[in-house]
Amino acid sequence: MFSCIRGKERTFRNLVNGEWLSSESGKFIEIYSPIGENCLVGKVPAMTKEEVDQSIKSAKIAQNEWRNVPVSKRADILYKAADILVEKLDDIADIMMREIGKDRKSSESEILRSADYIRFTADTAKNLSGESIPGDSFPGFKRNKISIVTREPLGVVLAISPFNYPINLAASKIAPAIVAGNSVVLKPATQGSLCGLYLAKVFEQAGAPAGVLNTITGRGSDIGDYIVTHPEIDFINFTGSTDVGTKISRITAMVPLLMELGGKDAAIVLKDADLDLAASNIVAGAYSYSGQRCTAVKRILVVNEVADKLVEKVKEKVEKLKVGNPLEEDVDIVPLIDERSADFVWELIDEAREKGAHLLVGGKRDGNMIYPTLFDNVTTDMRLAWEEPFGPVLPIIRVKDKDEAIEIANKSEYGLQSSVFTENINEAFYVADRLEVGTVQVNNKTERGPDHFPFSGVKASGIGTQGIRYSIEAMSRPKATVINIVR
Ligand code: NAP
Ligand code: G3P
Repeated sequence: MFSCIRGKERTFRNLVNGEWLSSESGKFIEIYSPIGENCLVGKVPAMTKEEVDQSIKSAKIAQNEWRNVPVSKRADILYKAADILVEKLDDIADIMMREIGKDRKSSESEILRSADYIRFTADTAKNLSGESIPGDSFPGFKRNKISIVTREPLGVVLAISPFNYPINLAASKIAPAIVAGNSVVLKPATQGSLCGLYLAKVFEQAGAPAGVLNTITGRGSDIGDYIVTHPEIDFINFTGSTDVGTKISRITAMVPLLMELGGKDAAIVLKDADLDLAASNIVAGAYSYSGQRCTAVKRILVVNEVADKLVEKVKEKVEKLKVGNPLEEDVDIVPLIDERSADFVWELIDEAREKGAHLLVGGKRDGNMIYPTLFDNVTTDMRLAWEEPFGPVLPIIRVKDKDEAIEIANKSEYGLQSSVFTENINEAFYVADRLEVGTVQVNNKTERGPDHFPFSGVKASGIGTQGIRYSIEAMSRPKATVINIVR
């Protein structure tokens, strides 16, 4: 269906101790574009365990000096990196479009947002302060003790990023980690590693000293277990699927984890909602980047009284979504990251159809392109009601009232975000108070930004909290120095 645009393929190298190293074993992984058949966009080294050791060792050694570099100097490197990222906007957007099939507008906004993230991280780090705590506030203690609390880095941070935001979800780990005085080893998703390596280059050009940022490429299924259980890793910041996240938490020991995992975000629509606002937010939230976002709206729970009206409005908008090749035109719906992901989404579509869900739009496939699909009358015995498709398919579940909506929303194994659409503030608080998620959006689609807000998932959606200040705090620890005044 799509033409393969050639001429951009390259062999990439890994950044290890300030040098760009090729594969010692001669083994590479070829990265093919999800758009266009057989279009090779680049090759990355399939690192061996020995090469992984070298990358982590270099981070370990560099951290000893980096931790003593003044915060203002670390922040200067971040400001520079943000500027370079903006200068390289066109190059990086181009590689992102080819590597992960993201449309141009979203690719560019991801890069610009990452530059803002990096700058804001530098600003925040410079403005963080410690505290001093008097001892005599605790019963039995006199005014001769004071605790001075400062923040210490953790050591070597392993950053593992997913394919869908290859710049943003790498930058949002690297920047807070290094500004806090840690060194970083970045293991990007294999499909997404070209972007990850570009980003490493940006930090290197900005002046990150040798070893402060290192990269590892190779399939998670081959080297993942080895990296996450490596004895020199002090902290793991992982974004990806719940399956892989759960495995990491099972096989690691005594290493703190910060994990952002899968979701099944619900848009709850109550009877007094502004239905136009709800419909446009739901469609943008569910289908952008073909639903390949952790925070995509992944189910609608609408009360019967307004269901017919809402369904009509949502259907009208979904029918207008533009499907195509992001390299050739401005499109809303792009091919999924690979054939296997499309097979999975297709399975969910098939099962919902077989079990009697009412197909309103789509239900069509061409290779890894799944056309935007909307189902009404989805019931809780269907997989589509519970599983995360990571594709452009949206189930509508009709409910009798807000309590049933809350009950179904909370039955999910996931707990990332939820939306509630209502013009009644009391209803909004009633629902928000009862939802078991990290964030509730009132009258807006589910989404992570602005990036200084806390962002977290509960249940199978994650461990810990991200967001600029929260991420810096997660990747550092309070250290108490107690002054004992001898009188
Ligand atoms: P994934 O398959 O879990 O991969 C994520 C990362 O883990 C990749 O770098 C992958 O490397 C690596 N990996 C795979 N197996 C590993 C192992 N055994 N040990 C260590 N690392 C391993 O996820 P994805 O398909 O890239 O991303 C989609 C998923 O991420 C969705 O479930 C989505 O909801 C979730 N996500 C969550 C958030 C959030 O903030 N909550 C944000 C974005 C995405 P390879 O590519 O080499 O396999
Ligand atoms: O899925 C990645 C996560 O970071 C979402 O960001 O802005 O799409 O909600 P956003």
